[in-house]
Amino acid sequence: MTIAYLFNRIHHGVAALRIPFYKLRHNTFGKDNFITEHVLLNGCKFGNYNYVGNYSILNNVEVGNYCSIAPNCIIGGEEHAYWDYSTSDRVSRKNITNKRTVIGHDVWCGAGAFIKQGVTIGNGAIIGAHSVVLKDVAPYTIVVGSPAKFLKYRFPEEMIAILQEYPYYDMPQKQAKEHIDYLHKKYAIDDPAKNI
Ligand SMILES: CC(C)(COP(=O)(O)OP(=O)(O)OC[C@H]1O[C@@H](n2cnc3c(N)ncnc32)[C@H](O)[C@@H]1OP(=O)(O)O)[C@@H](O)C(=O)NCCC(=O)NCCS
Repeated sequence: MTIAYLFNRIHHGVAALRIPFYKLRHNTFGKDNFITEHVLLNGCKFGNYNYVGNYSILNNVEVGNYCSIAPNCIIGGEEHAYWDYSTSDRVSRKNITNKRTVIGHDVWCGAGAFIKQGVTIGNGAIIGAHSVVLKDVAPYTIVVGSPAKFLKYRFPEEMIAILQEYPYYDMPQKQAKEHIDYLHKKYAIDDPAKNI
């Protein structure tokens, strides 16, 4: 039984954190973040109830609550100094590493997404699998492709306004679920999965 395993069993507000110590550098975590294996987090601040899939790398990123980050995402990270005579760290130390990337609440990043440092992803936004996000993404929009472009809104304008007016993001999980159940009852969704 490793120390990392024991650590993972202890709930210090980082329940289900399943990564070895060496992969965690200068991060802070809220409640119940589920970080899977082989994830590298550096200088990140996590809110509550987030998920990060295998092999994702996050550098200097602020993540809100209830976000789902699929495997193999790369968020933030160095821009090498292409304007210098070398892009190599060995001979040029001009890399820009300091821009904070911000992921709002209830954001879903599809597998293999790349999000450039300094970008802000609005609440409820979705990043399509393998998209390359170079610019800010508006709340409740879906962006896809390389470079990522607007595909569609998740909901009609009125519904997005309601979701933003009564956000569930700051609620604890049980209350948040009740809130989502309430929304289902009040505004029925035509669920594409129901006939599968
Ligand atoms: C972005 C996404 C949510 C959109 O789902 P959707 O609404 O069912 O999208 P559709 O399949 O109807 O595609 C709509 C259009 O967007 C394009 N598109 C969808 N996803 C895309 C992606 N990731 N990259 C580029 N284009 C994409 C489609 O080609 C299609 O274009 P067209 O209208 O010109 O034919 C989904 O495609 C996706 O990327 N999901 C991520 C899944 C994932 O990573 N899961 C990992 C486990 S969490």
